[in-house]
Amino acid sequence: MNFATSSYCASHFRAKRLAPPPPFPWDEPYRLTPGERDAIAHSIAQFQLGESSEGHHLIARAQQWAANSGDHALVEALREFITEEQRHSRWLGVVMGQNGIPKLKSHWVDTAFRCLRKLLNLEVAVTVLVSAEVIAVPYYTALRDATRSPLLKAICTRILEDEQEHLAFQGRTLGLLRGNAIGLRWTAHRLALEAAFLLVWIDHQPVFRRAGISWNIFRSQCLEAFDTLQQAAAREIAQVPVLSSF
Ligand SMILES: [Fe+2]
Ligand SMILES: [Fe+2]
Repeated sequence: MNFATSSYCASHFRAKRLAPPPPFPWDEPYRLTPGERDAIAHSIAQFQLGESSEGHHLIARAQQWAANSGDHALVEALREFITEEQRHSRWLGVVMGQNGIPKLKSHWVDTAFRCLRKLLNLEVAVTVLVSAEVIAVPYYTALRDATRSPLLKAICTRILEDEQEHLAFQGRTLGLLRGNAIGLRWTAHRLALEAAFLLVWIDHQPVFRRAGISWNIFRSQCLEAFDTLQQAAAREIAQVPVLSSF
């Protein structure tokens, strides 16, 4: 997917929001077995919370950036993007409710992510945000395969389609913000991500193990997602003059 302009990104995500809802099998009677539930409960609750962010700080930073760059469509695109993430949270919440998995009100990982996103400028906020996007692809692949729930599989399949688009969208955003003169930031980003991969692997290991995904597979899937992000950034850098981040 080539998100060539902020206006295109905004209209693409808006069209998805206005489209009929995905035909998920909400009435499917399958309920998680005790083994499936034990493996995913802690993990799905964390991701359900993480997807629910309202993104107030991100939007405020984007508005500051737009005032400088004139790219107000990026603010709209980010609003639509946040709405799409909140939809993921609602879908996961339904599966959790059907299977008696309680929602989390807070978790230290989510709190840490939200605090990090409040640091400095829009580029830092987006950098922290895309760490979750890079991890989302291997994670939802594992969650899809960790149980036999038709509803959870359908939801994860759709979330994975959305998350692939998010990588392209946020890669473009990073390309726009970083420009082509700052290769060091990509190197530092990759190193920070390697630490995040390890933390996520340790914390969500029961899901990955149940899906038959080893550490090596998980890490290589994460790096593949990071490549997608960088390719989207490179496409943006190739077509747009560098704008300084605010
Ligand atoms: Fe998501
Ligand atoms: Fe996402």
